[in-house]
Formats: sequence, C-alpha cells, structure tokens
Amino acid sequence: MSAVIETHELSKRYRRVTALSDCSVTVPESRICALIGPNGAGKTTLINLITGFDLPDSGTIALDRQEVTRWGPARRARAGLARTFQQGRVFGELSVRENVELGALGVRAGAAEARRRAEELLAAMELAEHARLPAGELPHGEQRKIAVARALAARPRYVLMDEPAAGLFEHDVVAFAHVIRSVRDSYGPGILIVDHNMALIMEVSDRIEVLDQGRLIASGTAEEIRQNLDVASAYLGASGVISEPSGV
Ligand SMILES: Nc1ncnc2c1ncn2[C@@H]1O[C@H](COP(=O)(O)OP(=O)(O)O)[C@@H](O)[C@H]1O
Ligand SMILES: [Mg+2]
Repeated sequence: MSAVIETHELSKRYRRVTALSDCSVTVPESRICALIGPNGAGKTTLINLITGFDLPDSGTIALDRQEVTRWGPARRARAGLARTFQQGRVFGELSVRENVELGALGVRAGAAEARRRAEELLAAMELAEHARLPAGELPHGEQRKIAVARALAARPRYVLMDEPAAGLFEHDVVAFAHVIRSVRDSYGPGILIVDHNMALIMEVSDRIEVLDQGRLIASGTAEEIRQNLDVASAYLGASGVISEPSGV
C-alpha cells in the first residue's frame, strides 16, 4: 500500500514558540489517523503545513511520494488535498445544500453529480431536513457539519479535519463517526482527524499520534494508546475528553 501523506521531520517556529519539532507522520490510503494532544501542541500547525497554508522552517511533505513542500495551497488542493477549519466556515446566505454542492462544483463535478453528492452527505449527516434553509440560520454545530460535508463533497484523496466534532452533541458525534467511516470505506481517502473528543477518536481511528509541545510523544492503535498510562494520565480526563491545560 502506498503511503499517501508523508511528512518528514517538519519543524516550525513562530518567534519564540516552537510550534512543531521534527514531526514525521504518515497517513496511508484508506486509513483514518488521529492526531491528539492539548491546546497549543501544534496540531493545527501541522495541518497548515500539510495543506500549504503555512511553510515549514525545515522538513518535507509528500503526497503519493511527490514532494509538495513548497507548493501553494491551491496546487495541493488540485492534487486532491482537502481540509476543514477549526472554525467551521459556511456561506451563510446560501442554502445548506448549495454549500455542500459547492464542494463538488469546485472540483468540476457536474450540477447533477453535485446535487447527488450533497443529498447523500446531507442524509448521512442528518442535515437533509434543513437542506433549503440558509446555512447561516443553523446553530454553530450544524454549520460545522455543513463545512465537513462540503469538504467531503469534493471526494478528496486526502482529508484533514481540524476539530470537526467540537460543539457537536453526543448524538451527532455518533452519526459523524459513521460518516467518516463510510467515506473511508466507499472510496478510500487517507484521513487525518484532529479532535478532543476521545469517544470519536477511539471509535474511528486506525492509528493515533500524540503530539505535545510540537513533538510526537506516542503513536499506536487506539487500544495501544488507551493502554499508554503516561498518555492517559497526562491527557485523558475523567470526562473522556482530552483536558485543556489552563493558563495557555
Ligand atoms: N500564526 C501564528 N503565529 C504565532 N504563533 C502561532 C501561530 N500559529 C500557532 N502559533 C503557536 O504555535 C503553537 C501551536 O499552535 P497550534 O498549532 O494552533 O496548536 P493546537 O492546534 O494543537 O492547539 C501555539 O503555541 C500557538 O500559540
Ligand atoms: Mg488547533
């Protein structure tokens, strides 16, 4: 199996802050990889570097073994890389369905195909009943789901999701886990998901990487990570959600 996203010893500093330090991760085709760690660990920085929204100080990034380290975000997007943002973004005036269709139209799918993908994703995400409403009228958690559906409508080869389950109700998280799995099973993109919701992470991930202060400190299957007591005591609160350190 060819590795689809590979980073090799990526490092990034912002003035005095070392956001990432020698970070090497691999997200293979048809795999769901999770990246966990406390706030400020460097998770969003890694996504920004992989997608080209920011450039590393050193290290390399490859998609299907093609080095893309200095490519701009648009070129990487054309190579099949999609992301969702920590702050889910929707076009508030457009309907929920139009928002999702845009994801498909943006990669030149025809109108009928865009409609088909939107309806399928909206049903899977339990948004179908809101399809005609302006997206801006929906609560924040629903808007986040729309933003994820829009990214998936492009049928990307690689998907990076930054805290997609933040602000979702437990019921939605279950539906969401199902959507992520069925996307992976249907056409096999490599998926990297950052989230604090451990129920979701444990449910969907084939592999988990733990980041702390810009360094990868552990990686393994969900079960291995669960059993890693250092990680557990440092990051897993009684709530099952990774604790966010105070004073950051
Ligand atoms: N554009 C930026 N300018 C300055 N500092 C940044 C910038 N982006 C991230 N940082 C810093 O880098 C560190 C890692 O941030 P981030 O990647 O957002 O962490 P996470 O997503 O894990 O919460 C933090 O200390 C953050 O303040
Ligand atoms: Mg972040």
